[in-house]
Formats: sequence, C-alpha cells, structure tokens
Amino acid sequence: MSAITILNSYNSLSKKVADIVEEQLKENRISRFILPTGSTPLGLYKELVNRELDWSSVMTYNLDVYIMNPSHSQSYQTYMKENLFDKTNIYPSNCQFPDRNVQSYEVRLKGIPADLCILGIGTNGHIAFNEPGSLFDSRTRVVHLDEQTIQDNSRFFGSVDDTPKQAITMGLGTIMDSKRIILMANGKNKFEILNKAMNDEVTTMVPASILQEHNNLEVYYCDEK
Ligand code: F6R
Repeated sequence: MSAITILNSYNSLSKKVADIVEEQLKENRISRFILPTGSTPLGLYKELVNRELDWSSVMTYNLDVYIMNPSHSQSYQTYMKENLFDKTNIYPSNCQFPDRNVQSYEVRLKGIPADLCILGIGTNGHIAFNEPGSLFDSRTRVVHLDEQTIQDNSRFFGSVDDTPKQAITMGLGTIMDSKRIILMANGKNKFEILNKAMNDEVTTMVPASILQEHNNLEVYYCDEK
C-alpha cells in the first residue's frame, strides 16, 4: 500500500511537484529527470517556467512518444518544446526522447539512474504507455496503444481515427530504476484507478500498481477537473 496525498486544487498539485523539481535542481545542477506529457503536468511546466530555474546542466528523458512525425503539432516532442524546453535554458541536445533505437535509450538511462521520475496515470492504470498486461521487468519498446488510451487521447486529435495507435515507451523496469518517483493525478475520473493501483494487489493488469514496490515513491492527487 502507498499513501496518496490529496491536495485541494490543481494549482497546489502543480506547485507541490514544482517545489520537488526545484529542490532537486538546487541540490544538484546536473540532475537527470524523466518527464511525462499529457494534460496533468501542464500546470507543473507552467509553474517551473515562471520560476526561471537554471536548467543548463539538466538532462531530461521523456517517458514516451507516439509513432508519428516529431514535428506534428500533437507530438510529444512538440509538446515538450512548447511547454518547457523552449522556455528554459536547457540545451536541446540534453532533451532525450525514445526512438526506434530502443537499446540506445536504455543504455543512456541504465548507467546512471534518473534522480527524479515524474509520472501521470491513465484511466486504465497505465504509466508511460505501459498498458495493462505489460511485464513488470519491461524495458523501452514499441507498443500498441490500448483501446481505452486511444479513446482518451482522441481529445487531442479530434477523432479516434486520427489518434496514433502505436508508441515507443519506457518499460516498467526502466521506470522502477529511478531513484525517486512522483506520481501525479488530477480529476475524479482518475481516483478509482489511482486508489486501486496504490491500495489493491500488485498486478500487471494495473501497471501503476508496481509502484507500490518502489522505495521512494510519492503520490499526489487533486479532484479539481
Ligand atoms: C504521457 C504519459 C501517460 C500520461 C497518462 C495521463 O507521457 O506517460 O501515461 O501520463 O496517459 O494523461 P493525462 O495527464 O493527459 O490524463
């Protein structure tokens, strides 16, 4: 079982996680972060940009990308540029995304584990794009997205037909190698799955449940949406 800290607004959720990132950055300028995309961390990135921190020695690794043109307006590469990278002094060459050379992404992460990994959770319990049934020791790989994920993400693409069906994701094993993990969730539609993941059995059918076995996990939730 893992405790869920409930915050009273989306603003508090974003600020709380931004405080953690800021502390990490101030403790070690050469920090390595694993970062999510999606709607949940938008407030976090806005908050971080406003704090004008020094990102010049930071390395970032994104959790996942859709298999699509990286310059597409809805690609995760574009999302990160627009919401964080272009608004900080981070070096573009220090911003890493998984690509089809999955082994090389693993090698880049394996030698030195990330100091901080920030995650969102899908309504089906996925973390990154590790859909239900993903193995706990899975590594970076190409995956087919779950019907539920395609449905959920179609809000960004206008229709299910136009929503990508495949992605490249870090594995659950890759995520679990991180020194510290923060899971953020926002919205009533996330509470049931979050509670199940943190307080029920650890099962591959709820991929986020493996996080219960991490020794440095914090979980923050608000139901503002
Ligand atoms: C995205 C990612 C996904 C999202 C999850 C929740 O990089 O890793 O696991 O965190 O799908 O997405 P939102 O925040 O849009 O509800």
